Amino acid sequence: MTDRYAVLGNPIGHSKSPRIHALFATQTGQDMGYEALLAPLDGFAATVAEFVAAGGRGANVTVPFKEEAFRLASRRSPRAEAAGAVNTLSFGNGEIVGDNTDGAGLVRDLKTNLGCELAGRRILLLGAGGAARGVILPLLEEQPARFVIANRTAEKAARLAGEFTGETAKRGLIPLQGGGFDDLAGMSFDLVINATSAGLSDTALPLPDTAFAPGSLAYDMVYGRETHFMAQARRAGCRVADGLGMLVEQAAEAFFLWRGVRPQSAPVIAALRQG
Ligand code: ATR
Repeated sequence: MTDRYAVLGNPIGHSKSPRIHALFATQTGQDMGYEALLAPLDGFAATVAEFVAAGGRGANVTVPFKEEAFRLASRRSPRAEAAGAVNTLSFGNGEIVGDNTDGAGLVRDLKTNLGCELAGRRILLLGAGGAARGVILPLLEEQPARFVIANRTAEKAARLAGEFTGETAKRGLIPLQGGGFDDLAGMSFDLVINATSAGLSDTALPLPDTAFAPGSLAYDMVYGRETHFMAQARRAGCRVADGLGMLVEQAAEAFFLWRGVRPQSAPVIAALRQG
C-alpha cells in the first residue's frame, strides 16, 4: 500500500507542499502519496487522529497549528523544543513524534542555495513571533559574530532574546540582543531576515537603511510577492531573496526524516519559480 502523508492547515488550498512532495517522490522513486487536509480551527487533534487511523505515516503542519502540534506530540526533537513549535509529525508505534525543520530549511537555503556564509557575520532578525522563534537556534549554531532581534513591540524581542540566554550560555554561543527598531541606530548587518508578517498586510517596517551593510543579503520569509522590505533592500543596493527556497528546504528536511532519502531541492525550486 502507498504510504500516506499530508499537510494540515487552515486555510490550506494555497499550499505548495503537495506539489513539492510529489516532485520529491518522483525524483527519488518513493512510493508515497501527499495530500492537503483542511483541519477545522477547533479540530486539529481530531484531524490528526483520523489521518493516523486511516494509515497516515506523517504530516506537515502549517498556520495556525504549529503550537498545537507541539502540544500534541508525544515526543519532540531538541530543535522542536527550542522552537516551541512543530511543523513535521511522524506517526508510528502509537507515537506522535514532533520535529521542526523550518530553521534547518532557512539555514540550508541561505548557505547552499544563496551561498551566504553565516559564520562570523552580523545577523539581524526582524520579528518576535513564531516564525522568528523557530529559526533562532539553527542560525546561532552557525556561529555568527552578532545576532540582534528587532520587533515593533520592543519588549517582545527583549523577552524572546532573554529566553535563549540559558541555552546560549550552555552551548558557548554568542548572546542575543533584542529590542525595537529604534535600537538599530548606528548598527549594520550582513544578513537581514524579515520574519514579521508585515509583508502579508503590505505595510512598511520602520527599518533604517543603515541596517544594510554594503554587500548584505536581505531575506524575506514571505514568498510569491514583493514586500516593502524587499523593495527597501533593493533600493539600498542589497541582494534580495524571498522565502521560496526555505519552503522547499524545510520540506526536503521533512521528506528526509520520513523516507531516509534527501531529495534535490534546486530543480524543485526552479519548477515552482516557473509557476
Ligand atoms: P508568526 O507566527 O508568523 O511569526 P505572529 O506570532 O503573529 O506570527 O508574529 C507576527 C510578527 O510580525 C510579530 O513580530 C509582529 O510584531 P508585534 O510583536 O509588534 O506584533 C510582526 N508584525 C506584524 N505586522 C507588523 C507590522 N505591520 N509592522 C511591524 N511588525 C509587524
